[in-house]
Amino acid sequence: MKVLFAASEAVPFVKTGGLADVIGSLPKELVKQGLDVRVILPKYEDIPVHWTQRMETVATFTLQMGWRQLYCGILKVVHEGITFYFVDNEYYFRRKGCYGYGDDAERFAYFCRAVMDSMQHIDFIPDLIHCHDWQAGMIPVLYRAHFSYQPKYAHIKTVMTVHNLKYQGVYGKEQFKDFFALGDEHFTGYALEQYGGASFMKGGLLYSDYITTVSPTYAEEIQTPFYGEYLDGLLRSQSHRLQGIINGIDYDELDPMTDPHLEVNYLDSLEKKQLNKLKLQERLGLPARQDVPLIALVTRLVEQKGLALIDRVIEELMQLDAQWVILGTGEQRYEQLFKWAADRYPDKMSACITFDEGLARQIYAGSDLFLMPSQFEPCGIGQLIAMRYRSVPIVRETGGLKDTVQAYNEVTGEGTGFSFAHYNAHDMLYTVERAVRYYNNEEAWTKLHDNIKKKDFSWRRSAQQYADLYEQLVNE
Ligand code: GLC
Repeated sequence: MKVLFAASEAVPFVKTGGLADVIGSLPKELVKQGLDVRVILPKYEDIPVHWTQRMETVATFTLQMGWRQLYCGILKVVHEGITFYFVDNEYYFRRKGCYGYGDDAERFAYFCRAVMDSMQHIDFIPDLIHCHDWQAGMIPVLYRAHFSYQPKYAHIKTVMTVHNLKYQGVYGKEQFKDFFALGDEHFTGYALEQYGGASFMKGGLLYSDYITTVSPTYAEEIQTPFYGEYLDGLLRSQSHRLQGIINGIDYDELDPMTDPHLEVNYLDSLEKKQLNKLKLQERLGLPARQDVPLIALVTRLVEQKGLALIDRVIEELMQLDAQWVILGTGEQRYEQLFKWAADRYPDKMSACITFDEGLARQIYAGSDLFLMPSQFEPCGIGQLIAMRYRSVPIVRETGGLKDTVQAYNEVTGEGTGFSFAHYNAHDMLYTVERAVRYYNNEEAWTKLHDNIKKKDFSWRRSAQQYADLYEQLVNE
């Protein structure tokens, strides 16, 4: 089974969010299970030179997009047994960051076009193309419109995975016609048209053979108006070919037993974990106290992550007998909120407005509790890493958070964390208070950790689900 992953970011080359973690780790597990999986991404300027130096050119060709004749290079590098291809065009991708340019529509249209055209030039014709998020959403459309009737490509299936429905890539129809050489029949409400414009994401959803999202609960949620981002009707009509498969994390890479960033390696020893906490408190300038819980947030500082709830009750949270550490960057209002709190409560709050992988690992290891009050969360990776590092999650019951964290029940002794249902600041506050109280209840705390230890959030099972799905589609 030959599978090509098309995506806009992947660890270890370039990362802005959780998508990169998935693209960097799921293929490894699929390869272990015997599939030939390769990945194709844009070659951005931000990819470190030690990678670009190792890349070799496998093809160069010209791509005709509208009236333009465009250069396209395909480079490759093999990393941990996986072949990664890179689409090279300096005009489109030799820029800082991945997204946020006025011509993103054209940049990712070019990417989709390049992925499809590259099949004629590299020695790899997949059985299935697995497209991730809107940036790859037009690949299934291009396949249907221009490739499916060619004998060499007729067998190919396409899967569209939604990592976040909020970002859809909606642009003017005229641009789409130009970039993708599509006739008017593709621009009806039953096709690409979306509120007067046209949508990459909608193209991926409607023209692919199958749709997945990154958790079963999110797969249900996006069929409702609240989470559906104006595509809930369409998704309801496609529910027979829509499934949620929970993300895993890379258990080899994320392993407190071997993590080189930690003061002390550990797995099930809470004493050794405490040594990491002391070291972290020292590094952050917080009082070295074992008797108070250290609560962590490692996140992009954006609305989706539920930071408005924290803003609403920040004073109350700072009154608790607990310490806080926040690591991440993002919207200014949230950066300022945490900087303010750290200024006002230096013994309680440490605000690290940056991103630093080593510090992130030390925070997962050194914290007792890990808060994710998301407004919505397709899967969420922070809570999985937290549990792997034995930090107890506090989450809102949405999307993947709901699927991976089970609320602690004092009566039965079951559960792996704390949770609240409604997007409400006081519900969150109450849940945090409860978690802080349990920190000093040794019996309950031990029980929680025992339950967490039994969970497996590695890719093994989910990769099997993808492999089964591919098999089923290819044999159809
Ligand atoms: C997006 C989602 C996040 C998910 C990640 C990987 O970043 O917001 O919930 O974990 O994609 O699928």
